[in-house]
Amino acid sequence: MDTRPIGVFDSGLGGLTGLAALRRLLPGEDFVFFGDTARVPYGARDRDTLVRFARQDVAFLRTFAPKAILVSCGTVSANALDVLQEENDLPIYGVIDAAARAAAAGTRRGKVGVIATEASIRSGAFQGAIAAQSPTLEVTAQACPRFVPLVESGHFLPGDSLARQAALEYLEPVRRAGVDTLVLGCTHYPLLANLISEVMGPAVTLIDVGAVTAQAMAGELKGRGLLAERAQGSCRYFVSGPTQTFADLASTFLGEPVDRVEQVDIERY
Ligand code: DGL
Repeated sequence: MDTRPIGVFDSGLGGLTGLAALRRLLPGEDFVFFGDTARVPYGARDRDTLVRFARQDVAFLRTFAPKAILVSCGTVSANALDVLQEENDLPIYGVIDAAARAAAAGTRRGKVGVIATEASIRSGAFQGAIAAQSPTLEVTAQACPRFVPLVESGHFLPGDSLARQAALEYLEPVRRAGVDTLVLGCTHYPLLANLISEVMGPAVTLIDVGAVTAQAMAGELKGRGLLAERAQGSCRYFVSGPTQTFADLASTFLGEPVDRVEQVDIERY
């Protein structure tokens, strides 16, 4: 039994998709969430900057002495996971491997799409991990740069015309490629899942990278005897930007009140 918390971070709201999945699977755990909302979006940044931000995010979470960390961010997973794992003596999970396994297992015709931020697609990490599952898989990758700013400014509710316009534009090449499985390679994108599904059509399976990683991570922590084994845990929320904006959007997305959000000066870490 291990009652230390689990740390989870992202550039912003998207990280909540991984966090929510973990909390559903492991309700007895304590969680500490950090959203780097003062520096969101991460997706247009270069690798050196992403590594610097990721090191600071982990350094902040480590002040809570976590037993494990979920990088609930495709962009950091694609660009800095190796550095974080090398420099830290605790399990750090990225969202790429479990997603690649789920895509390979789920595709019917071997045609897989992946949509993610520019920095993730540029790194080739998702494409490489999916192709490594089987040489016969055909992967179509597409960056969707406007999705994250749209989600962070609240444009994720049904019927949003700006989000719809962006989705029609970005998803056209993936639709033309005839994919039957689409990896939502950025943790913000499940907030647009209904819209993405509507544009892609009901025959295309969407993979939520945070959710499939949470499944794998929960199984591993259990296997290592690292769970708290109690009925009810807690969750603390920290952001680097304005707390009220995050509290409002997080409450809308999670469907439960997120009323206590604390601010962190991330540049101190
Ligand atoms: N949610 C993150 C990801 O999964 C970061 C998006 C961003 O800040 O651009 O890639």
